[in-house]
Amino acid sequence: TFPTHVRLVEVGPRDGLQNEPEAIDTGTKLALIDRLGAAGLTHIEAASFVSPKWVPQMADHREVMHGLRRHEGVTYSALTPNLKGLEAALECGVDEVAVFGAASEAFSRKNINCSVAESLERFAPVLERAREANVRIRGYVSCVLGCPYEGEIAPARVAEVARALHEMGCYEVSLGDTIGTGTPLKAKRMLEAVARDVPMERLGAHFHDTYGQALANLYAVLEEGIAVIDSSVAGLGGCPYAKGASGNVASEDVVYLLDGLGIAHGVDLEKLAAAGSWVTRAIGRPNRSKAGVALSSR
Ligand code: HMG
Ligand code: MG
Repeated sequence: TFPTHVRLVEVGPRDGLQNEPEAIDTGTKLALIDRLGAAGLTHIEAASFVSPKWVPQMADHREVMHGLRRHEGVTYSALTPNLKGLEAALECGVDEVAVFGAASEAFSRKNINCSVAESLERFAPVLERAREANVRIRGYVSCVLGCPYEGEIAPARVAEVARALHEMGCYEVSLGDTIGTGTPLKAKRMLEAVARDVPMERLGAHFHDTYGQALANLYAVLEEGIAVIDSSVAGLGGCPYAKGASGNVASEDVVYLLDGLGIAHGVDLEKLAAAGSWVTRAIGRPNRSKAGVALSSR
């Protein structure tokens, strides 16, 4: 059965922009984050405290966190792969952080330069320190419906990594179809396997739209009871360590779908669509939200 309310986690400023080849100035990022907050999104992933050598686009993480015009009731979060990233994020007053692991060994090595087991060992002190600082921590599992290097990924492997993150103390585990190769039945089966080990209300869906399946996959997992969805305004984005992967499912499209299903979300679709058309013009990118394009051309 469908949930009555869905919490949207807006990842556009991070996942959406991290792969942009041209430098995007901090002011544009801040203006985008401001518009997203004004549109009613309550959870915005604003930055990523990763190595600037690995992801140059996120090098201004400090300036972004310090420059936020905070909207009441909005959580501004950031990725923190290790203690170095966490300490920097805490200094900037981050509300929440996230660690990111993978269900694929090869992807883990390409993305964070260590094995899956090593990554979990590395996350333990990050979680401990975040807890000390009273900052909530979210966990990601990448490649839950396929890996750019290994191909098929067993649902049992996804469940194992998700469970490890949950048991370590991540309050929520977001399941990433990093390369967007999933289809609805596969998404359902994967979720069923994970939900045997981690309670459904602790899980989120983070689907990329490379093959145009993200909305269909979301419909499938909503039916199973998923009530947290990650999305990116205008469908911006892609992972720098997953060649060819396109952006996340577009936030505008998710909101339109939820409206049709009568599921509450708290977002103002007009304002969100305006933010999407503004940012795509600002950075010279196509707007990949069908609903966003339809609404802004009316
Ligand atoms: P490493 O090279 O193994 O780390 O990288 P290291 O500890 O040996 O450090 C190497 C250098 O990086 C040192 O600098 C460190 O100081 C620096 P040097 O001495 O060479 O000048 N460094 C840092 N600098 C800033 N912030 C830090 C930091 N840590 C070390 N936190 C590391 C390991 C994890 C750092 C690296 O692999 C990395 O930054 N990876 C990030 C990859 C990334 O951001 N990927 C995209 C996000 S994940 C994603 O998009 C998927 C997701 O959306 C879900 C889905 O779709 O599936 C979440
Ligand atoms: Mg992603």
